Amino acid sequence: MAQPSAVAGKKPEKVPTPAKTAVTLHVNGVARKLDIAPWTTLLDALRLYLDLTGTKKGCDHGQCGACTVLVDGRRVYSCLTLAVMKDGAQVTTIEGLAQGEALHPLQQAFIEHDAFQCGYCTPGQICSGVGLIAEGKARTTDEIRELMSGNICRCGAYPNIIAAIEEVMHGEAGAKGGPSRLAGHSAQDARNRAFVAGRAVQDGEAGR
Ligand code: FES
Ligand code: FES
Repeated sequence: MAQPSAVAGKKPEKVPTPAKTAVTLHVNGVARKLDIAPWTTLLDALRLYLDLTGTKKGCDHGQCGACTVLVDGRRVYSCLTLAVMKDGAQVTTIEGLAQGEALHPLQQAFIEHDAFQCGYCTPGQICSGVGLIAEGKARTTDEIRELMSGNICRCGAYPNIIAAIEEVMHGEAGAKGGPSRLAGHSAQDARNRAFVAGRAVQDGEAGR
């Protein structure tokens, strides 16, 4: 019969918990200091520590784009980005695009083009669209489609999303003039503004 080895009688070694790390993120123009575990993703830092829940967690595996934010002006999947890697960076989330009550042109275009249904993918789509326009690489509808392919919409609002981006990219936003066709339906208008601004609407809708 095999003898119990000396190792078997040993108490398991205690693995020390890594110390928390101090990180400063400049989120929507405000310096935010955090003390977080080194494995905290940027997405969790935003949602759990800074209560910025406009950025959505879809797959948490880099496959849907719901978590897209801008870091130093470039679009990234925040679920695949460790917050400690972005110490000192400028982070723009959906909450940082509007200027007070004035929506970003792409947020307004999403409303004008009915570019969402459930609204869950919308903050990521808008951040990605803002990044895409700033990159200046897309010239055609097909190129917009290709460069937005990392953002999935389960509701299939793609034609309207592309139309909204195209309008802003070509500087046509607001060119039609006049009030939004949704203006006047105040509850609906408020709901749409909340969706594109990444604000909670109500439980079960694209709030948290
Ligand atoms: Fe990040 Fe899906 S939640 S890509
Ligand atoms: Fe529902 Fe895009 S609007 S997932």
